[in-house]
Amino acid sequence: MTVATIRVHLPTSAPSAIDRSYDITVGRGLLPTVGAAVKAAGGRRAVVITDAAIAATHAAAVEIGLRSAGIEATALIVRSGEGSKSITEAGRLWDALAEHAVDRRTHVIAVGGGVVGDLAGFVAATFGRGLACWQVPTTVVAQVDSAIGGKTGINLTAGKNLVGAFWQPHGVIADIDTLATLPAREFVSGFAEVVKYGMILDAAFFSWLEDNVGPLMARDPAALAHAVERSAALKAGVVEQDERELTGLRAVLNYGHTFAHAYETAAGYGTLLHGEAVAIGMARAARLARDLGRVSDDLIARQDQLLLGLGLPVEPPPGVDLPAEALLEVMARDKKAVGGELRFVLPARIGHVELVEGVSTLLVRRALVG
Ligand SMILES: NC(=O)c1ccc[n+]([C@@H]2O[C@H](COP(=O)([O-])OP(=O)(O)OC[C@H]3O[C@@H](n4cnc5c(N)ncnc54)[C@H](O)[C@@H]3O)[C@@H](O)[C@H]2O)c1
Ligand SMILES: [Zn+2]
Repeated sequence: MTVATIRVHLPTSAPSAIDRSYDITVGRGLLPTVGAAVKAAGGRRAVVITDAAIAATHAAAVEIGLRSAGIEATALIVRSGEGSKSITEAGRLWDALAEHAVDRRTHVIAVGGGVVGDLAGFVAATFGRGLACWQVPTTVVAQVDSAIGGKTGINLTAGKNLVGAFWQPHGVIADIDTLATLPAREFVSGFAEVVKYGMILDAAFFSWLEDNVGPLMARDPAALAHAVERSAALKAGVVEQDERELTGLRAVLNYGHTFAHAYETAAGYGTLLHGEAVAIGMARAARLARDLGRVSDDLIARQDQLLLGLGLPVEPPPGVDLPAEALLEVMARDKKAVGGELRFVLPARIGHVELVEGVSTLLVRRALVG
């Protein structure tokens, strides 16, 4: 299998004229090649920040590659789970970096899912006024979403991702082989964002997904590589055009997410995986678009069929009791930030979405139960 490279073009930072553009590399057997990439970029020492679940396997493969490239490597292991995206854990990592006498030629390598990527990226952004950081994503979510775009951060008790920084990586190296060890529920959940990219930006990719449900669920490496590569390229394209969420273009990535956040919050964090909530959210958003006369039942049917085929839900699972009132309340609270008006990213057709303002609560309620 060939290795695909997607260049993310970003404006040069003034006044130092540093080129911030970087490559996303997607393929098999890439973990041992991280060392050569870091070396080529001028790294002389490396701190590998990784998830306890993969420290002895995938992260160890990265460390071996670093050492054989002549780079001194230290591993810092983070406990698995969202709880590690905390100020306590960031503090522990800052202290560890200080202890290892980290200098300007030390690169941080995040090996793991979105938790490690967001945490390690944030620690790299903030330690010593910024260390070079590499993202080596090992979950579907991380390979198609969180490792790309430079958003890093940690959670507060008051809410998720409340403290963070934009910190673009030096490179993203997505080794498809790492997905072989992902637990089934985590694996499937990541595909909600993949379906999202097809829905918001690429009808041909959506059709390809419809035709490749079998190989994808069998974790066929060639199918996975194509899905990751296409998703990464689509996200990179959006990030290039709206790096810091200023123009509103990056908002298309929020398709399904207003509903999803409501389901995640109302169900209690951890009940639904994020991707599961996004799948339900996209199914609801499509129904809302239909009720507004923007799309036909055919679009809902195709999206539902693809999501269900991938093993994702289109409505809350039995036992997750979510009254419409509670969901609407969460959405209304979410919306305070944008002036109290309900607005949604809704499909216009497969491959294209639009921002729709001033949606009535009545229709939202109907989409939640319909
Ligand atoms: N920065 C962004 O733009 C962005 C975008 C989307 C999500 N996120 C963040 O990403 C996080 C979720 O990421 P995630 O879904 O990858 O979760 P995660 O990092 O918690 O990983 C999921 C689980 O898989 C395990 N794991 C990771 N790689 C594995 C592998 N190869 N084999 C076996 N097990 C493995 C982990 O230990 C964990 O239990 C959230 O905190 C979310 O806020 C950030
Ligand atoms: Zn998401």
